[in-house]
Amino acid sequence: MTNSDDVTRGTATLASQGGAPVRKDYLPIAVPWIGEREKQLVLDALESGWITTGPKTQELAARIAAMAGVKHAVAVNSATGALHLALEALGVGPEHEVITSTWTFAATVNVIEHCGAKPVLVDVEPDTLNMDPRAVEAAITPRTKVVLSVDYGGQPCDYDALHAICDPRGIAIVDDAAHALGAAWRGRPVGSLAKVTAFSFYATKNLSTGEGGAAVTDDEEVADRIRLLSLHGMSRDAWKRYTATGSWYYEVVAPGWKYNLSDVLAAIGLGQLDRFDEFQRIRGELVARYQANLAAVPEVGFMRAREGLTHAWHLFPIAVDLDAVTIDRARFIDELRSENIGTSVHFIPIHRHPHFRDSLNAKPEQFPVAEHAYARAITLPLFPRMSAADVDDVCAAVAKIARAFRR
Ligand SMILES: Cc1ncc(COP(=O)(O)O)c(C=O)c1O
Repeated sequence: MTNSDDVTRGTATLASQGGAPVRKDYLPIAVPWIGEREKQLVLDALESGWITTGPKTQELAARIAAMAGVKHAVAVNSATGALHLALEALGVGPEHEVITSTWTFAATVNVIEHCGAKPVLVDVEPDTLNMDPRAVEAAITPRTKVVLSVDYGGQPCDYDALHAICDPRGIAIVDDAAHALGAAWRGRPVGSLAKVTAFSFYATKNLSTGEGGAAVTDDEEVADRIRLLSLHGMSRDAWKRYTATGSWYYEVVAPGWKYNLSDVLAAIGLGQLDRFDEFQRIRGELVARYQANLAAVPEVGFMRAREGLTHAWHLFPIAVDLDAVTIDRARFIDELRSENIGTSVHFIPIHRHPHFRDSLNAKPEQFPVAEHAYARAITLPLFPRMSAADVDDVCAAVAKIARAFRR
């Protein structure tokens, strides 16, 4: 509900100063959309007598592989697990370095440390906040084993540039596509652009199983290794050992992890996949509305997709122009909260977290683009259940605050 006349005229008092908030009810940053199909499939799983990894997980994996344009997918319980297994399967170890973006979630970097390898952070490009290929090239050493790209917000990295750097040197690319299911680069789906790609099905992602993820690859050997390591290192199809056709006998051939997905959660994913194209279409429409509305608010900039790619639009970040307003980003977020608009910041750069700052001796001045973006970034609500009126409310609140604090 918008008190839109006052807001449009610029006469509305900020909610933080006793005025009416732009919305009466709070708009969260993301809400999953669980429909009747998901509920029915979960019920099927619950009543089937098979609630852990089984046929629904296999079906989800097969459909994700098809979407990603590759032969193999292993469904697991998070993108974090998928990334960890990808690095393990590629043989990343203590003698190696893995280059990744400082503009990401901690999981991307934690898994490098789990393998005993050294994370090497690089800065990003200003328009996409994806890793800068020139910085990647400059960071390569004889120890570099993997470049771990991050498709920020759902926008694929520049894979032409990354392959031109990595392929001649025998460096594998692993794609953290936690945000980018359904995205494409020059007509090729995300999932087919790297040696291994990890997707996330976390609660807020563009396809959600609550918790979940998948690793996809065209390399059968790597896929087999990931599958093996995802379930204790037990030999192939050990998950079937309690079925009529399964065997009690299995062998542990490596010390694996417990990263498998359950059929109850996979059932949610199958239902979501049936509606995925519709979800993505709605996301695109909401983003177009945001971009049109916010073009009239010069105090903020916003993310656009580069030419020649399909953006998955998991996130819609804006950048507050600190030269145009008298408040900082944190205060802008507080004001949005008072207007009943939920937001977040994606991301607090990795080099700012105490653990990585200290262990990697990372200094803010090494990452000027990420630092500039971090001081200004706010992620606005974006999810397919949002209405056009919700987008208008968010934009009205942004405009109201920008106007109130204009320099
Ligand atoms: C860029 C990125 N990578 C990895 C992850 C981890 O995903 P998951 O929660 O599925 O492990 C996230 C989660 O938000 C993320 O944003």
